[in-house]
Amino acid sequence: MENRFSPELLEHLANARRVMALTGAGISAESGVPTFRSPDGIWSKFKPEELASMDAFMRNPKLVWEWYQYRRRLIYEVEPNPGHRTLVDMEAFYLRFRLFTQNVDGLHHKAGSKQVYELHGNIMRNRCSLCGRRVLQTAEDDSEEPAHCRCGGLMRPDVVWFGEILPEDILSMAYDEAMCADLFFSIGTSAVVYPAAHLPVLAVESGAYVVEINPESTMISSKVHTTLRGKSGDILPALWSQLSQKSHF
Ligand code: OAD
Repeated sequence: MENRFSPELLEHLANARRVMALTGAGISAESGVPTFRSPDGIWSKFKPEELASMDAFMRNPKLVWEWYQYRRRLIYEVEPNPGHRTLVDMEAFYLRFRLFTQNVDGLHHKAGSKQVYELHGNIMRNRCSLCGRRVLQTAEDDSEEPAHCRCGGLMRPDVVWFGEILPEDILSMAYDEAMCADLFFSIGTSAVVYPAAHLPVLAVESGAYVVEINPESTMISSKVHTTLRGKSGDILPALWSQLSQKSHF
């Protein structure tokens, strides 16, 4: 097999003990989930402030709900791709492997990853906008409007909207992990949305070897140790198979 990866990278992969991966919309692109900022991405067709904010939901709950129902239907039909599945293999191999995702599609869980920390929530869950009670959304739920919680509040998708803060416990774990990791992967994210975008930079500053996997250049490309240009569904399995040949595990 052609040797596509540097010996330095393979050495880091073979010897790492604490590994962290941060994923973004790009890892699910090959499963058929649209990204946000590509030329034909979600934010080229819809305005975030009209669909992904509490103001928008209060103004027009039905419109926001319908948009999320549309995205849920799409996500129910898609399957994890080889990129998601390689992260499952990595989790099984490394002593400590933590996966943080900005995605709300649940595809890492569906692929079989066990320790997944969702920084921006999960689209298959709803949360009461008043009392915070959480309820799983079923595949059969084709409601056109948000339900009312038993407390009287409106149920909303349990995702982080613009202007909202991320789940504090998960973010704090992400910072701790980025500061202690010796190998860090930034996969399929444009790295423009904070605070998640700060994690790879924090990892570099804290001494981790940082690898970016993305077909395009991003805000962090010049700061990381290695950038692998291409689709994560191609790069991750190729990298992993090359490592297994090198290490004979
Ligand atoms: P973006 O849409 O901003 O970026 C997706 C990235 O994936 C881009 O850099 C693409 O080049 C890259 N990409 C595309 N196809 C890929 C592939 N096959 N393999 C690997 N990479 C690929 O998505 P995010 O960075 O995830 O937040 O966006 C961050 C946040 O902005 C989202 O979580 C969402 C959005 O607004 C909220 O909704 C709170």
